[in-house]
Amino acid sequence: MTTVMNRPVNPEVEAIRHHYEVSNAFYRLLLGPAMMYSGGYWEDGEDLRAAHETAQERKLDTFVELAGAAGAARVLDIGSGWGTMLDRLTTVHGVDRAVGVTLSRTQKEFVDGLGNPKIDVRVESWEDHRAEEPYDAAFCVNALEHFVLSSLTPRERVARFREFFTQCHRLIKPGGRLVMHVMTVENPPLTRQIIDDLKFLQREEFPGCYIPHLHHLTATCEGLFEVTEIRNERESFSRACRAWLENLAERRAEAVELENEEVVARFERYLDIFAYTLEDGIFNNFRMVLTRREGETR
Ligand SMILES: C[S@@+](CC[C@H](N)C(=O)[O-])C[C@H]1O[C@@H](n2cnc3c(N)ncnc32)[C@H](O)[C@@H]1O
Repeated sequence: MTTVMNRPVNPEVEAIRHHYEVSNAFYRLLLGPAMMYSGGYWEDGEDLRAAHETAQERKLDTFVELAGAAGAARVLDIGSGWGTMLDRLTTVHGVDRAVGVTLSRTQKEFVDGLGNPKIDVRVESWEDHRAEEPYDAAFCVNALEHFVLSSLTPRERVARFREFFTQCHRLIKPGGRLVMHVMTVENPPLTRQIIDDLKFLQREEFPGCYIPHLHHLTATCEGLFEVTEIRNERESFSRACRAWLENLAERRAEAVELENEEVVARFERYLDIFAYTLEDGIFNNFRMVLTRREGETR
């Protein structure tokens, strides 16, 4: 069980907190006012930093439209970060109740601090979430990458992806949509640098994190969701990484004071790895729109 607030927790939860419970002040410096930790939609010619907030809002609004979530009664955000999607759903798109799940207690503190009575954020894992009634729509924006451990066998990983889509099927109304951004990996060229960098990501920054292949996702949602759209938007994420690196470079001394040299250096290295692997097509960032099929969840 991973429903947790202050109790001792399992290594999977600790791994997430290692990354996501760096202070909110540090994340504010890194992510800027948008407080989105995922790709954005820049238009050609726009400046990475000047247009960062606009690019993130564009992404959110596009996702809301694709999910048909405007004016909905209840919407779920799985891996809800600092609550920017939840806030926009309720303040701009007329959603009545926006529920988020995250494993990070500092993220929950941040979202609670927004004082938005239409938002409910819970510190619990996606598989533990229960709803009194199904949601009209759901989002999972660059969070699924954390949900399946690399230490599992290939067969167990497939079963875990299936569990994720089964849980989403249970939580969303028939005909409702799940809109995701999710990174996938291609078979990378096995150069020394790539091997070292991928090892660093997996051992030091995101312990146990498993980046799937696209076919894992399409195969394991079969029968539960109709795949309505798949688009590779890897530049949306590489640009965001470059914008965050520029934020960090400009205020590096402050960042070190908020955390320490080791944390800042770790972030610089991992963001640079993400940026170049996305630019080189080693990682992808797929936007997937899935429509929940009729029928009971078994
Ligand atoms: C890269 S952040 C993305 C946050 C947000 N969706 C955004 O776009 O800004 C990944 C999020 O997934 C959450 N997360 C990781 N593992 C989780 C789990 N097992 N259950 C629920 N949330 C989880 C993290 O706490 C974090 O909020």
